Amino acid sequence: MKVFELKNEGETLALAGKMAALFEKNDVIVLIGELGAGKTCFVRGAAAYFGCADQVSSPTFTLVNQYDGGGMTLYHFDLYRLRDEQELLESGADELFFAGGVSLVEWPQCAMALLRDAPVTQIELTYCPDGRRLTVQGPLEERIAW
Ligand SMILES: Nc1ncnc2c1ncn2[C@@H]1O[C@H](COP(=O)(O)OP(=O)(O)OP(=O)(O)O)[C@@H](O)[C@H]1O
Ligand SMILES: [Mg+2]
Repeated sequence: MKVFELKNEGETLALAGKMAALFEKNDVIVLIGELGAGKTCFVRGAAAYFGCADQVSSPTFTLVNQYDGGGMTLYHFDLYRLRDEQELLESGADELFFAGGVSLVEWPQCAMALLRDAPVTQIELTYCPDGRRLTVQGPLEERIAW
């Protein structure tokens, strides 16, 4: 597990951009954290690396937004409104996992069983007195050499 202390939104965006440089096709990254912890902010920083930051908004009602840029497709999920895995399967959104892009998943609970045996990276954002603490575990963590 790697841990980063992020003092402000700018540091969250910057770290996300550095991590985005390490993204590989078919990565699935689940974003864990309370309301307002910075999950969407992280996605915005990652999308900026691929040149498409302006389009990033929470896909709470669409379930998934797609951002194309820099030879990569990002799928930005927000599964907050889904009750269970059945609803996810009915939406068809799960078919985008491992479809050749990178999936960034806010509120992934109803997808966790589906992803059980897959190489999923977990990024967790928690509130701390100085801003946020970000931890990363999984395949993406192995690629971080800094
Ligand atoms: N390192 C940081 N320190 C302090 N504030 C931060 C930091 N990173 C991001 N923020 C702020 O925290 C908020 C994060 O909002 P964001 O929409 O990204 O949260 P979220 O986790 O996606 O919430 P939701 O669960 O509602 O989707 C923004 O107001 C942003 O400015
Ligand atoms: Mg969000």
